[in-house]
Amino acid sequence: MSEQEIKVPDLGGADEVEVIEITVSAGDSVEAEDPILTVESDKASVELPSPGAGKITKITVKVGDKVKEGDVVGMMEASADSGGSDDSEEKPEGKAEEKSEAKQEEKSEESKPAPKKASGGSRKETVKVPALDGFDNVPVIEINVAEGDTIEADDPLVTVESDKATMEIPSPYSGKVGKILVSEGDKLSEGHELLEMTVQEEGGDEEASEAASEEPAKEEKSESKSEEKPKQQAESAPEPQGATYEPPTPGAKVHAGPAVRKLARELGADLARIKGSGPKGRIIKDDVHAYVKSQLKQAQQGGGVATGSGIPGVKLPDFSQFGEVKREAMSRMMFATANNMQRSWLNVPHVTQFEDADITDMEDFRKAQKAAGEKKGVKMTPLPFLLKACATALAELPQFNVSLDMERKEVVRKQYIHIGIAVDTPNGLMVPVIKDVDKKGLWELAAESAELAQKARDKQLKPAEMQGACFTITSLGGIGGTAFTPIVNTPEVAILGVSKAAMKPVWDGKEFQPRLMLPLSLSYDHRAVNGADAARFTTVLSQLLGDIRTLLL
Ligand code: COA
Repeated sequence: MSEQEIKVPDLGGADEVEVIEITVSAGDSVEAEDPILTVESDKASVELPSPGAGKITKITVKVGDKVKEGDVVGMMEASADSGGSDDSEEKPEGKAEEKSEAKQEEKSEESKPAPKKASGGSRKETVKVPALDGFDNVPVIEINVAEGDTIEADDPLVTVESDKATMEIPSPYSGKVGKILVSEGDKLSEGHELLEMTVQEEGGDEEASEAASEEPAKEEKSESKSEEKPKQQAESAPEPQGATYEPPTPGAKVHAGPAVRKLARELGADLARIKGSGPKGRIIKDDVHAYVKSQLKQAQQGGGVATGSGIPGVKLPDFSQFGEVKREAMSRMMFATANNMQRSWLNVPHVTQFEDADITDMEDFRKAQKAAGEKKGVKMTPLPFLLKACATALAELPQFNVSLDMERKEVVRKQYIHIGIAVDTPNGLMVPVIKDVDKKGLWELAAESAELAQKARDKQLKPAEMQGACFTITSLGGIGGTAFTPIVNTPEVAILGVSKAAMKPVWDGKEFQPRLMLPLSLSYDHRAVNGADAARFTTVLSQLLGDIRTLLL
């Protein structure tokens, strides 16, 4: 066995290309022509094939690296019987691919007919497949436009795929797409008729103004296209099934290499529904596997337990028709929070119980602790009192300290009292958990909640610090509001929302007294908790907060 370099072959004119996926690792055995890695230029993705059969000993590039012809990307030990040789001599798929791209562009330029005359009108053209430089009979894997779309010259019309490369055939004209003459799966060669187009001529008014009215601004085009364009794809795709997976923008263009497309076809996964985690949102094999797993899990969970399955998704309109819009990717946290909220909302029959607690005396006591707090370096806010009161109420009414296991038809009764606190951070909502609240004093709770809230804002929370809560407090009291209906943080069965305390006139039997009233909103899972218990819980809270000496009992 001899060691040989794996080099980037002739890229058919492309200077530098980016490594977007590495398909093998050191130690892998490969056959000749097996893909080693995928590179991408502006217009095409190409798999670099193994120069022979053998074992990969080293990969010397990483995803995101830029490589050019002749660069060494790895080393391999060729098997004794391998016909492997210096790959720079091999016929690279990429060469033909990139060449065809270049040629095709040239040809597109050539095939663009000179404007017949500035007639101020439009003409019909039939767009044909340009020279594919040796590629013959390549199947259409994606149609990127739909009848009626207004497109620019060079916008991709269809995507074709050979064994090893994917290529987009660009439009030679700007104009409006008419009848589409090919379908997915059709095999194309040079000269094959693709589609009809109404091409606007210079100085054109009719079609041009029609096109312009459908396309308010160039910046908007991607928005409009991503939502409207490949209608066949969006319409033929199944409706989203429940809440565990949010598809990306329906009809958005799919970025994936040939091997990934093949895998997706084999597994029956619709690439349009998979969010790519590779560079520039490219879909990699792991994304396909993860998607298929999530779909299977979701299908399994659907059996016997209400998951919200079958609820139709919300169809988005083309917002650009109403005004300018910009799109930005959701952060991972925002996406996870959105999913959790939706899952809880769909699975839990929510009811919210309201109550006002008289915290006039509590506030006097809290304020009296200011000097002591300064000495200790801890600020005493209303939150520690709320934590303590909730811990006492949970102990008194243990039906709130449960989770429901619907599959096993069991109630899980927790013998500990851990409480989550919702913290508003610049990156979104986080819920650190204070353990054993019933065993801690007010100062300890004040210090711990301040520390965890700061950690949340600094993105320093460890996963263990966000797990294990029995109940959650979400306090908007420092901000404002009179009441709200929080969403239960499943699998917990209740959550306490706290709004801003305000002075109110309270009738003491003889006259109105000015009292500081704290609005409480308790949302609960009505499968686990009945309404009478919810009223008991808020009453207990209100009594405890109204006379904090009872917290000691
Ligand atoms: N009524 C009136 N004032 C209140 C109050 C209430 N219910 N709760 C707190 N305050 C006051 C505090 O006393 C403090 O005032 P002070 O500086 O004069 O003493 C001020 O509001 C700010 O308090 P804060 O720093 O928010 O401390 P906290 O301990 O009350 O709250 C968090 C800590 C982490 C809960 C809070 O900062 C937070 O992030 N809240 C938002 C939670 C959220 O976004 N929930 C929504 C989930 S959907």
